[in-house]
Amino acid sequence: MSTEQEIQDLRKRIRAADAAYYDGGASDLTDAQYDELFVRLRTLEADNPQLLTEDSPTQRVGTPLKKGGTFDTQEHLAPMGSLESLMQADEVRTFVERARKLLEYDEETPLTWSCEPKLDGVSANLLYEDGVLVRGLSRGDGQSGEDLTRNLLTIRNLPTQLAGNGPFPKRVEVRGEVIMSKAGFAALQQREETTSEGTFRNARNTVAGTLKLMDPRMVKRRPLDFLAFAVGFVDGIDFGTHEQLRHKLAEWGFTVAEPAAPAADIAAILSFRDDLESRRDELPYEMDGVVAKVNDFELQQLLGRTSRTPRWALAYKFAPRLARSRVEKIAAQVGRTGAVTPVAHLEPTELAGVTVRNASLHNWALLAERDVREDDAVEIQRAGDVIPEVVRVFVDERRADSKPAEPPTTCPACNGPLQLEGKFLYCGDIDCPAQLIGRIVHLASRRAFDIEGLGPKQVEQLVAAKLVTTVEDVF
Ligand code: IVH
Repeated sequence: MSTEQEIQDLRKRIRAADAAYYDGGASDLTDAQYDELFVRLRTLEADNPQLLTEDSPTQRVGTPLKKGGTFDTQEHLAPMGSLESLMQADEVRTFVERARKLLEYDEETPLTWSCEPKLDGVSANLLYEDGVLVRGLSRGDGQSGEDLTRNLLTIRNLPTQLAGNGPFPKRVEVRGEVIMSKAGFAALQQREETTSEGTFRNARNTVAGTLKLMDPRMVKRRPLDFLAFAVGFVDGIDFGTHEQLRHKLAEWGFTVAEPAAPAADIAAILSFRDDLESRRDELPYEMDGVVAKVNDFELQQLLGRTSRTPRWALAYKFAPRLARSRVEKIAAQVGRTGAVTPVAHLEPTELAGVTVRNASLHNWALLAERDVREDDAVEIQRAGDVIPEVVRVFVDERRADSKPAEPPTTCPACNGPLQLEGKFLYCGDIDCPAQLIGRIVHLASRRAFDIEGLGPKQVEQLVAAKLVTTVEDVF
């Protein structure tokens, strides 16, 4: 059979199996057989690009897996370890000193570390054979993971075949993190989709949930990215250093985590982390710290690993931005537009360097959906300078006599009637003092007239003393 014929034949069998699936019937192929045909087809097309056609089953993603199914489990070629997580500068010192000692380095001998972000997503292990992606596994227990190939194939920046001229390793496992950028996550929240468990909690959680969806067409609608940071098993290639590995990965068409920098000593690792933490909010995706790896692979080999973690790589975490707190009260507040929104008054809680006392609950519909109640133990999250949010309720810890929070029936500021417009409650009284305060605060703010010395406190005092009864009075 000619290559062209074999390709035609494979396409026909795959299409038939797809059709049988969509008709609700079972095809005569097992998942494993189907995957085998698919990979064979992709390999042939990669080797013979002139035979690749747009209507090939390889060019469209989205063959749903069996309904209500589970994913196959497969073994990683090389186990996937984890990193020792360090919270303090002193722990980093100890870690680096241990490595230097094991290598019998004196004070003068330099040891170069390669620093990059610690991405806050879900790790995946991609196997490429002769440059063609043949499967992608979740981390699982480190020895074997779930076969998420079809879902991973929907990720736009994940190469299905390695770019460049090769030669490619016979087999290489490329490891990295599946993430959702902050912008992607925000857009998804805008779409207001809900998973079976309710609204999306944060980007990491959403990625984890998305990768477990049984229908790749749904996965495709979620803005996932893959960032590569390591290789596992590899034959036929020696990368030399982590820095060179990063270059090779980029050459092969992967996105690698940025920014990256070499560090010649402990101080450089510490300052790489501090600098990144201070710019955390400007970066396009979530990271929860930095990873520092001994740059030279030979030295990595020499250092080896403990039972769980390598002695040549460390994770130096940022201060956490999730914390536990307790809702003391759910209050209604009136904004400058008259919108009456719920706010949770919290037990004061330290979160990423500030004391958080309030968390936004957005609107009463969302409050009802998340079912946040007074006295609940909750998890709060702070991202950037946005107002902290309640992202989770510890329902198991709830008191038996607890009651759902109710929206107010009259305006909490002026006692006037309220109207429901969409998801929002509004106070219709234009003279409502809370609205007046809100409008003046807005007017005086930097983005409007930028009136120095006229902040919320002063405005409240002026309105309370009736020195100001309209916005025009300010002038
Ligand atoms: S290297 C031996 N580099 O952190 C492990 N991991 O606790 C080599 N992670 O499971 C991993 N960003 O999912 C490495 N730049 C990075 C990383 C990174 C995030 C995750 C990864 C791993 C976990 C380790």
